[in-house]
Amino acid sequence: MGESFPRILSFHLRFPDRERAHPIMVGAGLVDRCGTLLKEAGLGGTAALVSDTIVGTYYGERIQRSLEEAGFTVLPLLLPPGETTKTLNTAAELYRHLAQGGVGRDGVLIGLGGGVVLDLAGFVAATYMRGIAFVSIPTTLLAMVDAAIGGKTGVDLPEGKNLVGAFYPPHLLLIDPTALNTLPPAEWRNGMAEVVKAALIGDPGLWQQLVDNPARWATKPGEEALLTLLSRSIAVKIQIVEHDPLETRGEREWLNLGHTFGHAFERISGYQVPHGEAVAAGLVAAAVLSGRLGLLEESELPEQLERVLRGLGLPTRWRIWLAQRGVEATPEEVIAAMGTDKKRRGGRLRLVLIHRPGLVRTYSDVPYEPILQALEETAV
Ligand SMILES: NC(=O)c1ccc[n+]([C@@H]2O[C@H](COP(=O)([O-])OP(=O)(O)OC[C@H]3O[C@@H](n4cnc5c(N)ncnc54)[C@H](O)[C@@H]3O)[C@@H](O)[C@H]2O)c1
Ligand SMILES: [Zn+2]
Repeated sequence: MGESFPRILSFHLRFPDRERAHPIMVGAGLVDRCGTLLKEAGLGGTAALVSDTIVGTYYGERIQRSLEEAGFTVLPLLLPPGETTKTLNTAAELYRHLAQGGVGRDGVLIGLGGGVVLDLAGFVAATYMRGIAFVSIPTTLLAMVDAAIGGKTGVDLPEGKNLVGAFYPPHLLLIDPTALNTLPPAEWRNGMAEVVKAALIGDPGLWQQLVDNPARWATKPGEEALLTLLSRSIAVKIQIVEHDPLETRGEREWLNLGHTFGHAFERISGYQVPHGEAVAAGLVAAAVLSGRLGLLEESELPEQLERVLRGLGLPTRWRIWLAQRGVEATPEEVIAAMGTDKKRRGGRLRLVLIHRPGLVRTYSDVPYEPILQALEETAV
């Protein structure tokens, strides 16, 4: 440390209903500099550091040291890893820890971890004392390119995922690619499914890079390539969120590309399959359906997409993949599971479909028959 000057990229996400900026920094070494960066952002007081036991073990001490060196009093709070932690009960426990730890309105809550920790920590920051400063430090690829960007926070209910939450963009978002050094390969692949989605939605150049050499991205690439991958995926999400921050205009819905199918696969499996894998299989179904509906400008897109996903070690054929995971389902059952998705508005099935990489649109009232055919075509 010290001798090198790592490249730091800066983004700013404008959230129109907020006065404050929403700065996003991407660069190696940010984890160890977080204390200074928080200070420079005008934050102070007690810093509650919320993480899970896995991420906390890897990075907690380094962050705590950096914060303490910058004059913060640190209150570390570790949660069990996994989606089952993202509940109102855990939020309530955190509120009480914050109150008992003396965290006041001038304090700051730092979320360190994957999407689970960040969604929960952001929600707690948004609601504790009607909102205290929130800093987000994502440590999974999925969180870096997706969950941490755009201000959505929340928790799950037994009735469904993400049913309670708030829009609360962090005061500072620090993305340190070196935090991915410890990420398990399966979590890397999970995140890559969202990178593929981002490329299809808004970055034809990135899409081309994926098509040219999918294997290059199957595991974490070198520093420069990783920075490119992160910054371009992040840029896609920022652009969409800025156009439609509160998901009222429609653009933000495009981020659901592949997700209506994907959520149906997840639901059918009782949420036993990884989200990224479900999205991958969902993207293939969405691409094939786009072709069947005559929307695709490039007929080779579904085949290209399958090649990319296979190269990344992600599934493409939903029925085979589900069977490998011990889950049996028919196309009709998948459609039934899609029908309960929140993207179904006013009783009509809404789907995000592709024209070409860089051009996707939402369609309501997609007819049943082509969906069924697309699912049959992409089953095995
Ligand atoms: N708010 C949003 O806009 C948004 C968008 C997409 C997803 N999400 C949410 O994100 C969650 C999924 O996030 P996720 O995929 O990051 O999963 P996660 O937070 O469960 O993390 C996955 C696993 O990786 C471990 N881990 C994290 N970082 C690590 C690291 N650097 N080294 C080693 N292990 C590490 C974690 O402990 C966990 O076991 C879901 O709850 C989903 O609803 C939110
Ligand atoms: Zn997703």
